Amino acid sequence: MRLDKYLSQATGISRKEIHRIMHRGDVSLNGDETLNPAQHIEPGVDSVCLNGEPVGAPGPRYLMLYKPAGYVSASGDPSHPTINSLVDIPRNDELHCCGRLDIDATGLILLTDDGKWSHRITSPRHKLPKRYRVETADPIDASAVQAFLDGLKLHGEHKLTQPAELEILSSNEALVYLTEGRYHQVKRMFAALGNRVTALHREQIGPISLDPALSPGEYRELTTTEIASIKP
Ligand code: URA
Repeated sequence: MRLDKYLSQATGISRKEIHRIMHRGDVSLNGDETLNPAQHIEPGVDSVCLNGEPVGAPGPRYLMLYKPAGYVSASGDPSHPTINSLVDIPRNDELHCCGRLDIDATGLILLTDDGKWSHRITSPRHKLPKRYRVETADPIDASAVQAFLDGLKLHGEHKLTQPAELEILSSNEALVYLTEGRYHQVKRMFAALGNRVTALHREQIGPISLDPALSPGEYRELTTTEIASIKP
């Protein structure tokens, strides 16, 4: 990899600015000052320093974000703010979310640039349960519990939904546990029973829960334990 590319990726500083910095003699490679931005380096093997501070190889990033309502689960959108814009780190546009939430939904979003890791979360084969807290327009009938377990036919689809758990908390509030992620699935499951979701909040994805210390719009890095909890 070129030295200027490595430095730019690791620090978020533009390559043009890196060239200026290098010209000042602020970069060293394996202990020797270098002025050559095109120098080939081996990430993880060569030691690169900027102003005497080591610059680590850019590794994969893993974050949890508390999605507020009004943001789209995408890195770019012509008419709405995006969840990526809430993340103030270099190359935030390279992060993708592991399972979207609707624009009006809130709660846990996992963001990463590690495609293999996110695949384990989103792939239906892994059947990773996601927990949603739901409020509805009409009271939830007790018969909905069995209907969610049996599977529902969603509007415009033939295949029944996978068995899902429904825990009724009060007349208009419930927890839903899904192991698949069809388009607007929770809302469409309630619609299939003649009800309407008025608020949808994701609390948990597999073993990872939304950190109660986060407020809407805030994010934090995942711990190594949380990252490792998503098994291959
Ligand atoms: N189900 C929905 O209807 N919307 C979401 O955002 C997630 C699950």
